[in-house]
Amino acid sequence: MTETSTHSGSPSLPMQGVPQPKRDEMLNLPRVHISTHPVLAHKMTALRDKNTQPPEFYRLVKEIGTLLAYEATISLALEPAAIETPMEPMRSQRLAGGIGVTPILRAGLGMAEAFREVIPDVQIWHLGLRRDEDTLQAIEYYNRLPHKSDLQVCYAVDPMLATGGSAIDAINILKRLGIPRLSYVGIIAAPYGLLKLSRTHPDIDIYIAALDESLNDRGFILPGLGDAGDRQFGTF
Ligand code: PRP
Repeated sequence: MTETSTHSGSPSLPMQGVPQPKRDEMLNLPRVHISTHPVLAHKMTALRDKNTQPPEFYRLVKEIGTLLAYEATISLALEPAAIETPMEPMRSQRLAGGIGVTPILRAGLGMAEAFREVIPDVQIWHLGLRRDEDTLQAIEYYNRLPHKSDLQVCYAVDPMLATGGSAIDAINILKRLGIPRLSYVGIIAAPYGLLKLSRTHPDIDIYIAALDESLNDRGFILPGLGDAGDRQFGTF
């Protein structure tokens, strides 16, 4: 893809007049993991389809979130755990330290539920960021993060990474808590937002299910899936 026309958009939009990076050049960014799982690819087709209605859309977000949670937790730290099986004692392993998930409201809620299904004792820290549709800047409107944390890792989850503003702000907010490791987990990313997030926070891992082609003049991902919040919760 070459530079996207932005002539009809507002001059204040963050990607206005900036050449959008090409998708193919964003495939090997450091610490960016783009899933190649065929079951995930299959579910993405149903998720994107405009005929998929909110109940099924929400169910698919949770299923895709579960697969992404499995991929994103692959390098979690373990500690020894002595147990007894019905047969004999053994030295086994358990997760070392707490695990947090921060859904970026609203659209991240389904993904947070998916993480809770994979790891039932995750802490869920809600963070409300709303993207202003005129400026595309993220505005914080709700924050139930604790004042201190003993987590080994926290995952910021949100289905859509468009301009990257919401994800960058969420990671900035989480960094103030001093958590040793942070990751971002999303479903669809635009090359523009992915590059911006990766460059702004090169110290985090980024897991996504799909990298799309571009942003349109209003900051929507193409081909994308529309508005993930509206499609999960039926607010059209
Ligand atoms: C959408 C989406 C992301 C954000 C992505 O949320 O779920 O949070 O926009 O855009 P960005 O990368 O350009 O910041 P929205 O603000 O529409 O809120 P919602 O989740 O309540 O629908």
